[in-house]
Amino acid sequence: MTTRTNHKPAAKLTTRQSATLCLGQSGIEVGELSFETSGARRSTRFEYATSWLGRSDAFPLSPDLPLVIGPQFRSPKEAGAPVFFGCISDIEPDGWGRMVIKRDHANQRKLAHVKPTVPAVMTDFDYLNWVSDFGRMGALRLRDPAGEFQRKSTSHDTPALIALPDLIGATRAVELNQETARDLAFLRGHGTSLGGLRPKCSILEDDGSLAIGKFASVTDTRSVVHGEVLALTLARAAGINTATARVVDVHGMAVAVVRRFDRVDGKRLMYLSARSLMQASSSQQYAYTDIAESIREHGADAASDLEELWRRMIFNILVNNVDDHLNNHGFLHAAHGQWRLAPAFDVNPFPDKARALKTWISQDSGDASSLSEALRVAGQFNLSAQSARTILAQVQEAVAGWRGLARELGMGAADIASFAPAFEHPEDL
Ligand SMILES: Nc1ncnc2c1ncn2[C@@H]1O[C@H](COP(=O)(O)OP(=O)(O)OP(=O)(O)O)[C@@H](O)[C@H]1O
Ligand SMILES: [Mg+2]
Repeated sequence: MTTRTNHKPAAKLTTRQSATLCLGQSGIEVGELSFETSGARRSTRFEYATSWLGRSDAFPLSPDLPLVIGPQFRSPKEAGAPVFFGCISDIEPDGWGRMVIKRDHANQRKLAHVKPTVPAVMTDFDYLNWVSDFGRMGALRLRDPAGEFQRKSTSHDTPALIALPDLIGATRAVELNQETARDLAFLRGHGTSLGGLRPKCSILEDDGSLAIGKFASVTDTRSVVHGEVLALTLARAAGINTATARVVDVHGMAVAVVRRFDRVDGKRLMYLSARSLMQASSSQQYAYTDIAESIREHGADAASDLEELWRRMIFNILVNNVDDHLNNHGFLHAAHGQWRLAPAFDVNPFPDKARALKTWISQDSGDASSLSEALRVAGQFNLSAQSARTILAQVQEAVAGWRGLARELGMGAADIASFAPAFEHPEDL
């Protein structure tokens, strides 16, 4: 529960909610977050705790929250602009999670005895709080004034692999608008922990480690699940540091089980999307060379990460991963406000989409998905022409093996044929 104070002069209802922002498994206090709505106006206030500011290992949670004494505010003017600071936007539910929460909320409001913790209207802050604490992305956590991490959850209530059939049923039902209270209970908190648009849920592997189950969508026209695992496995073969993924067959239905890279040895690692690290605005176009600039500014090992980023860009071009937006690139905190590229995730071949990148190669390139353009800008990633050519050859060799790997993953001839245009296209060199 969070504090919710309603002042109601005239018709304008002001709601103020707050929580303590904590970090990591031990829940170190980093500051106080409050959120206010007043009519259509929404604003956020954050103030670092003096205990955090005094620590030798303190770091700014995101570049838009410098380590300073006193409150910092954010009050977006444009509708749809993020109301939270970057690091908090990264722990909010996104398209899929918000849809599950919205349905769950509506369902709970229909009950005869509505719990006092179920508000009449959900604010952005409520959405933030309805995400399970156990599975919440990265290391940030929200502690309510009663001292409870929201949304209260433990490993015991996180679904295990054995629950996959129920989760598949629940996600399909939500997509088809046919969900029951039982379906919503399966997904509550855990089905909303991570961002993104596709159906997914936190899941516990048999050895107790945390993973994401990514499910087929009712709108899929090919096995997107296989495509994602195929791309991640090929990316690893191409020398890219990737999240570990496998296909699990559940009564003939494929689920991608992807290990969480932000959980290591029981620790929670601090995560920031590239969007947040770059303080990107939604009205501007960004390029890989801009991400490279951010790595130069904030990177803990800029040389390695610049090379890794260039390798990922080449890979995305070669497998036509055109969903390479700035939330699909991320960083993990190393130390003292310096960041490393997080393992690659959400890498997908798109056989039916034009070869146009979401993140451009450079500001001059337009959306062209072009190897020659990538080679032209290699210097901006600190690569010599010769090393760039060597990396390109390595990535091309790995991608060339896609058909064999697809068969190993159990993909049938029709599925392989449907993915072919993503992997086999005219070279532009
Ligand atoms: N292996 C992982 N470990 C930790 N966090 C992850 C992992 N994979 C994804 N995430 C986080 O979860 C979010 C959503 O995951 P993902 O991008 O795979 O979903 P999606 O629905 O396919 O996204 P999109 O809307 O971009 O298609 C990511 O933006 C990232 O913050
Ligand atoms: Mg994504």
